[in-house]
Amino acid sequence: MVKRTHYAGEVTEKFLGEYVTIKGWVQRRRNLGGLIFVDVRDRCGIVQVVLNPQTVEKDVVQIAESLRNEFVVEITGEVVERLSKNSKMKTGAIEIVASKISILAEAKTPPFAIEDNIESSEDLRLRYRYLDLRRPVMQKNLRIRSKVTAATHEYLDKNGFINIETPILAKSTPEGARDYLVASRVYQGHFYALPQSPQLFKQLLMGSGFDRYYQIARSFRDEDLRGDRQPEFTQLDLEVSFLDQEEIREIIGELIQQIMKKAIDVEVDPTKFPVLTFAESMNRFGTDKPDLRFGMELVDLSDLARDSKFEVFANAVKKSGQVKGITVPNGADKYSRKNIDQFTQYIERFKARGLAWVRVTEEGLSGPIAKFLVEQREELLVKMEAKEGDLLFFVADSANVVAQSLDYLRRQTAKELGLIKKDRWEYAWIVDWPLFEYDEENDRFAAAHHPFTMPRVEDLPLLDDSEKVYEAQANAYDLVLNGVELGSGSIRIHRMDIQEKMLKALGFTPELAQESFGFLLTAMEYGFPPMGGMGLGLDRLVMLLTGEETIREVIAFPKNNRASEPMMNAPTRVSAEQLEELGMGGIFD
Ligand code: AMO
Ligand code: AMP
Repeated sequence: MVKRTHYAGEVTEKFLGEYVTIKGWVQRRRNLGGLIFVDVRDRCGIVQVVLNPQTVEKDVVQIAESLRNEFVVEITGEVVERLSKNSKMKTGAIEIVASKISILAEAKTPPFAIEDNIESSEDLRLRYRYLDLRRPVMQKNLRIRSKVTAATHEYLDKNGFINIETPILAKSTPEGARDYLVASRVYQGHFYALPQSPQLFKQLLMGSGFDRYYQIARSFRDEDLRGDRQPEFTQLDLEVSFLDQEEIREIIGELIQQIMKKAIDVEVDPTKFPVLTFAESMNRFGTDKPDLRFGMELVDLSDLARDSKFEVFANAVKKSGQVKGITVPNGADKYSRKNIDQFTQYIERFKARGLAWVRVTEEGLSGPIAKFLVEQREELLVKMEAKEGDLLFFVADSANVVAQSLDYLRRQTAKELGLIKKDRWEYAWIVDWPLFEYDEENDRFAAAHHPFTMPRVEDLPLLDDSEKVYEAQANAYDLVLNGVELGSGSIRIHRMDIQEKMLKALGFTPELAQESFGFLLTAMEYGFPPMGGMGLGLDRLVMLLTGEETIREVIAFPKNNRASEPMMNAPTRVSAEQLEELGMGGIFD
């Protein structure tokens, strides 16, 4: 083999007149006007190779004629100026006049084209992921991912963080999802749990005095999958001792700033990230992960609705519910009654009992409930900052139903009407979270974050008040980008007396607490420093930076939405012998 002199995608007019050797895959070959053209692709791009059968040796022509898509080739030739230049390609001003071609490997016809915009099913792409990853967009995504991790290592290393690996074969960690279990052969009937995050280990490392820890950590959660959730995913996980929430947010802000700069060359100013309390976010956007790239905030109309002639509104307020609305700018013509019926049907999943709406027209309000709003029209329009041509949606229900319904309608209509500005990076910190949340399924309170989250200082006394304990708020913070939860973190409980109260409020008996994380409680008795940290979803961050819709597009070998991997065909059945060794012989017969 001859040595490669250049990447195909980097042969430009700088090399005019030089002989180069490239190696890569045949993107396509075509015979045109007596010449043979071969596009060769490698990780840097595509270059055009041309061959004149009249002027090269017969065996070279023969090889060129036999080339098919995705053959692996080595080509040597002279770089010359191209007659019909292609300004869209980096290599578009030149072509390589081939004098020598070798086929390094032949290839079957791939099941889909190796190019960016293909209409292949995702399962086919995943079955042939190695081919899918040849597509330029996938190459670009994984390179950006690599830049994100490189920038992370660089920034955290420079700032005194120590990169420490924690076990994958571990014990259940309290992040609230189902565990993946691994059977032990040595201790039959016993299982390791794959970590849902390195949470407990990083707290122990602070107890060991490392002061600043980080890890790009694989985490495992057996939960319902979505576009931004995989059974295994990666966190940028960090923890520090002796710093308070503001100091930790500052570090993470700078980390994000460096990542954005180095991975996609975008400047953001983390000192300007808005800080919203959980309550404010829920109030204004109906969600704890608000998309701040557009307005359309929720407007509380409960006061106005109290005296409304529309009984649905008046009754909701009487029953200590709410009435809120959103203004869809210029939505009056865009949405038909049928569209609105579809929205109404959609929000039934949030238990909404209906969707009230009016159009703002030249003549006034129109729509089925307009007649009830005649007297309050002016006040309504002012409150909702509505103008002619707008569509107003209202939901009257419990706070929860109103929030979920209007959050959905806000995002969906903004998306459909193109109101979400592109290339905007709207970060937000969400703080002052509830410490507990009610778990309806099990009819008890659970930790909203995890059981080691410190209450706000001012709420510490609530832990001794059995009436009010569940009103306590957490010293916790989430980072949101463009409506996606990027990460969450908190200050941790480092004192045994507080931890005991917290566990009591969560209904842990001392025995259960010992069994679940006795090692952590014991470690705490040997002197834990005050500490806090965060776990950022690396996959989600890269998804946003690359403009992708799902994290599957930024993970080399992801699972599909049914938690299976079509290429390796995982999970699979295992042999009777393997089960036998684990003491599970015959259990699946
Ligand atoms: P949390 O459970 O919020 O916190 O997870 C942190 C971040 O990880 C990402 N994430 C996921 N990404 C892809 N697929 C999933 N299934 C998935 N689940 C979570 C999200 C999320 O914000 N130990 C704490 C962090 C801490 O307190 O320091 C933790 O794991 O972006
Ligand atoms: P009805 O009086 O039930 O015929 O409803 C009149 C309109 O009000 C319909 O458009 C319903 O979808 C809507 N509606 C009913 N219940 C609610 C509710 N709780 N919140 C908002 N709109 C509602």
